[in-house]
Amino acid sequence: MNFKRLLSYLIPIKIYETKSDINKNLEITWNNGQLVLDSKNTNFSYGNLQKVLRFGLKEIGFEKIKSLDSTLILGVAGGSVIKTLVNEIGYIGKIAGIEIDAETINLANKYFGLDKIDNLQIIITDAEKFIAETKETYDLIIIDIFEDNIMPDFLFENTFISNVLNILNTNGFVIFNTIVSDNSAQIRNEKFVKLIKSKNRTLQRIPNLEGDNELLILN
Ligand SMILES: C[S@@+](CC[C@H](N)C(=O)[O-])C[C@H]1O[C@@H](n2cnc3c(N)ncnc32)[C@H](O)[C@@H]1O
Repeated sequence: MNFKRLLSYLIPIKIYETKSDINKNLEITWNNGQLVLDSKNTNFSYGNLQKVLRFGLKEIGFEKIKSLDSTLILGVAGGSVIKTLVNEIGYIGKIAGIEIDAETINLANKYFGLDKIDNLQIIITDAEKFIAETKETYDLIIIDIFEDNIMPDFLFENTFISNVLNILNTNGFVIFNTIVSDNSAQIRNEKFVKLIKSKNRTLQRIPNLEGDNELLILN
């Protein structure tokens, strides 16, 4: 086993670091024997983040997910949920990944081989803009957007979520990863839940995942 990887069971070993306008810092680190992508203040891909989204996919059911034709990922970073879909679930449907920070995709390709995935198309753009303009529709939409450890306000606004629901196929699913680290985030999520219920959508809440994450599953 690679020495740095072995040592990382004792302490995290950073092997690459770069600056990012959107996410302040991007770091590739060996952590507990696994290569992860972190921003300045949080884990972005692989590690705990991958566990949270895997949990959401399991709630829907891996067999159900496998039967879907098209998936949209908003916020790609290192692409750990894409690896879960393709390598663990055996998903062969179309995957579109929307990412605003091109540097994360360079790292995803170099360190995690994201460019080796045949059924994946990456589009470098702002997810808010993409959702408002696209003519495509999807069976599964995963919202996992953070600027470092901050969730932009637009994610919780009626316009954004209405646009997301407009491009969701009948009987499709949305998995929305949120962080609830203080009282104001709790109030924000309660308000958002009311908004979703007003649209007569089914909503499942899975709080306290890996600490502060709350997953919202809509259909
Ligand atoms: C937690 S990471 C995504 C992790 C990824 N889903 C995975 O499975 O590994 C959050 C990502 O959202 C991206 N992001 C932030 N604002 C965005 C926006 N407006 N549009 C698209 N991506 C955005 C960040 O650059 C970052 O790469």
